[in-house]
Amino acid sequence: MSEYLLEARGLKMHFPIHSEVLRRTQGHVKAVDGVDLKVRRGETLALVGESGCGKSTLARLLLRLLQPTAGQVLFEGDDILIYNNAQMTRARRDMQLVFQDPYASLNPRATVGKIIAEPLRVHGYDGDVKARVRELLDMVGLRPEHYDRYPHEFSGGQRQRVGIARAIALRPKLLICDEPISALDVSIQAQIVGLLQDLRSELDLTCVFISHDLSVVRHIADRVAVMYLGKIVEIADRAELYDAPRHPYTESLMSAIPVPDPVKERQRRRIVLTGDLPSPAAPPAGCAFHPRCPRAQTSCSQTTPQLEALGGDRHLASCFFPLSTDARFGDHAADGAVPGHR
Ligand SMILES: Nc1ncnc2c1ncn2[C@@H]1O[C@H](COP(=O)(O)OP(=O)(O)OP(=O)(O)O)[C@@H](O)[C@H]1O
Ligand SMILES: [Mg+2]
Repeated sequence: MSEYLLEARGLKMHFPIHSEVLRRTQGHVKAVDGVDLKVRRGETLALVGESGCGKSTLARLLLRLLQPTAGQVLFEGDDILIYNNAQMTRARRDMQLVFQDPYASLNPRATVGKIIAEPLRVHGYDGDVKARVRELLDMVGLRPEHYDRYPHEFSGGQRQRVGIARAIALRPKLLICDEPISALDVSIQAQIVGLLQDLRSELDLTCVFISHDLSVVRHIADRVAVMYLGKIVEIADRAELYDAPRHPYTESLMSAIPVPDPVKERQRRRIVLTGDLPSPAAPPAGCAFHPRCPRAQTSCSQTTPQLEALGGDRHLASCFFPLSTDARFGDHAADGAVPGHR
């Protein structure tokens, strides 16, 4: 059995831009532009990056909800992109998605019991469906009387619990959570994160957790992948990424995380990136981050860096001038000894 449950190889999704007038393709939005990613069994891998960098598109590609322009998706070592419908239906039992907006993703005219039972019925569950739904309600912290209620009768957090119950109904091996808490109140976010963590160990789940909130990711991820304009620019074990980011983009994301200690918060040095995220329809030449990068040199606009191991093989970054390992952002911020750009 492979160490990896899920693997993406050279994955690309280029959406065509159609011209209304000329009725032809004018170009492409390179939403995902060459992603190689391996997700280990049992781990929680977080995918972070600015809005529009391609996180949701990548999630949908990994589940084959979109057919990629190029590349492969291997689930348990098998290329799911060549699966026929019957094979794909079977594979879907094992790979599920939790959406960002728990209201939009639930059918408003169906009771919660029916919503959670749907995947069981679609996949021909041979046990007692009602009993299984009650069990699932309990697992996600809802009560038996919630069975006959409709989504609008629930709070945002409860609705997300329903979405999670539906996603785990078939005991999947992989759960992809696309911003599962961003639509919720801060006080509720922690509860849902706690629930996901409990379920993860109870059900032996492998998780891909998409978020732009790095302080949440810090609590739940084993590894973190940072995306920028359709590419992964850095990936490492959580502690290493937070303590010693190597890519200047990651460093700028880290510098924006508020520090709970007011003294340290005052000493914190924020790296504010200049300019907006460029359009994925016309990414900059060379390293796509170079127009916003404080460390950029001439060569960065000419040659595209590859995602490469830096030191150990568990820490990869795509940068010609990575930050040095002894530049611990947190320590510098704490003692106020932040050098110029490292
Ligand atoms: N179906 C589509 N057709 C054309 N362009 C698309 C389509 N879906 C996404 N895009 C574009 O692809 C890029 C990546 O979008 P995506 O939704 O994957 O980003 P994201 O990282 O999930 O952003 P957010 O954090 O806002 O959810 C965006 O520029 C988006 O406009
Ligand atoms: Mg998204």
